[in-house]
Amino acid sequence: MEQTLSIIKPDAVAKNVVGKILSRFEDAGLRIAATRKMQLSKADAEAFYAVHAERPFFGELVEFMISGPVVVTVLEGENAMSKNRDLMGATNPKEAEAGTIRADFAESIDANAVHGSDSVENANIEINFFFAQKEIC
Ligand code: CMP
Repeated sequence: MEQTLSIIKPDAVAKNVVGKILSRFEDAGLRIAATRKMQLSKADAEAFYAVHAERPFFGELVEFMISGPVVVTVLEGENAMSKNRDLMGATNPKEAEAGTIRADFAESIDANAVHGSDSVENANIEINFFFAQKEIC
């Protein structure tokens, strides 16, 4: 069964909508195979988003991701990666379709409520970044 990684970002955790967002995954038929609330260190955030290290928004992205706790989750199901991306909506909430998580809960392209893996290959890398195999059920 396909797996993907979701991060509920500090803005959505601060708004107390973790349960609402996890319900959207479950309502769409995805299962929670592992989940954890945690505070990322600067080194964690820099390593996780290393692919964006040269982008002009990298510094702000890292500072935002360590501004409060996040909830990291392994989602499992048929086409889990693309299903999660459909549920999230566009990166910029102003462009996100109505009814998507970002349209409903995000404020800006930085504080955009959720991250989701953008390919099955990256999903495996991102899942292994946060979870040991024995933590995934
Ligand atoms: P995310 O899916 O977590 O991946 C990288 C994040 O960088 C992205 O969501 C946005 O929150 C943030 N970001 C800020 N500015 C941009 C931008 N111009 N293009 C893409 N991502 C951006």
